[in-house]
Amino acid sequence: MSYGVELCPIQAWDLPTLRRWRNQDEIRLQMVDQTLISPRQQRQWFVSLCERADQQHWVLRCRGIRAGYVNLKGERSAPLQNQMVADAGLYLGNSAVRHPMLAIAAALSQLDQGFDRFNLGCIRTLVREDNRSALRLNEQLGYRQYGTEGGFLALELQPADYYAARERLRRFFR
Ligand SMILES: CC(C)(COP(=O)(O)OP(=O)(O)OC[C@H]1O[C@@H](n2cnc3c(N)ncnc32)[C@H](O)[C@@H]1OP(=O)(O)O)[C@@H](O)C(=O)NCCC(=O)NCCS
Repeated sequence: MSYGVELCPIQAWDLPTLRRWRNQDEIRLQMVDQTLISPRQQRQWFVSLCERADQQHWVLRCRGIRAGYVNLKGERSAPLQNQMVADAGLYLGNSAVRHPMLAIAAALSQLDQGFDRFNLGCIRTLVREDNRSALRLNEQLGYRQYGTEGGFLALELQPADYYAARERLRRFFR
């Protein structure tokens, strides 16, 4: 199911928009790494992606328009397929297609990739303890808190909890 969005491999021409969004305070200050990303750093990162089988990075598109960014990163430096644990990252940028269910659509697409395509054992994410938007989103998806790490809550999603959450959420996308 596509939930009205697409996850597309990142192309060179996506980089300026992604960097602009990633450096905006609303996004940057929610990240574990809060440094401003330079064009050079971003180019190096982009080149390194081609060699990384342990990670997947996508541009989120809605009606063909760039709307955000999604990733999955394996815990081990080995192909992502079948890893026991992977980390999930996501942000939405300002766009003409932003809508109240877009974050859910992006996350469902991300998690379908994680569990249905890459057969991951579980998916984790770190969310700042005051990031109410992300906590609300992750709760709807079935994530549970399993710890804290310096101002961040450590959340984990098990496949069974995800499939139950997806069943509740998919009716919004018929
Ligand atoms: C986490 C995140 C994906 C959640 O998105 P969200 O569920 O749409 O929640 P937000 O608080 O951002 O938006 C709140 C509302 O304003 C709307 N909105 C926000 N910015 C908007 C914009 N530029 N244009 C139109 N609507 C906008 C959203 O559609 C949403 O509507 P709702 O209240 O009716 O649901 C998003 O807040 C984000 O990208 N945050 C920064 C990165 C981040 O925290 N990532 C996760 C942890 S690493």
